[in-house]
Amino acid sequence: MTISVLVLNGPNLNMLGKREPGVYGARTLAEIEEETTAFGAGLGISVDFRQSNHEGMLVDWIHEALGRCRGIVINPGAYTHTSIALQDAIRAVGLPTIEVHLSNVFARETFRHHSYISPAALGVICGFGPLGYQLALTALQPHVV
Ligand code: DQA
Repeated sequence: MTISVLVLNGPNLNMLGKREPGVYGARTLAEIEEETTAFGAGLGISVDFRQSNHEGMLVDWIHEALGRCRGIVINPGAYTHTSIALQDAIRAVGLPTIEVHLSNVFARETFRHHSYISPAALGVICGFGPLGYQLALTALQPHVV
């Protein structure tokens, strides 16, 4: 059976490539999707890669992952710093979840130092750009097989 992992991206990540390239790099989300999906296939993981600018959509997708996916990788964008609903959704489904950020949020504004997601996550990867998604899949693999 294929192991499916949901890779979720929150608000403004659809703007990668154009958005503050000095902070987030030049790669588009479509390019990151392609690389992450190919890397996942090498680990025997089928990646379901999605993006939404809407908090409720992300909550719905987390709920729908139950019974369909074995784990979650999430870059919640700015919802990281605001969303109790996303933390609750991750706790509700109980799937192993890894939080990813392209930038090193701890080297940035203090409002980015707090995450509502981290208490519900297995771990956090930040500051390594698009490679972070591959590092997250590598870290998640033993938890989903
Ligand atoms: C981000 C960091 C967040 O603080 C920010 O709001 C984002 C992207 C990152 O990938 O570095 O939208 O999650």
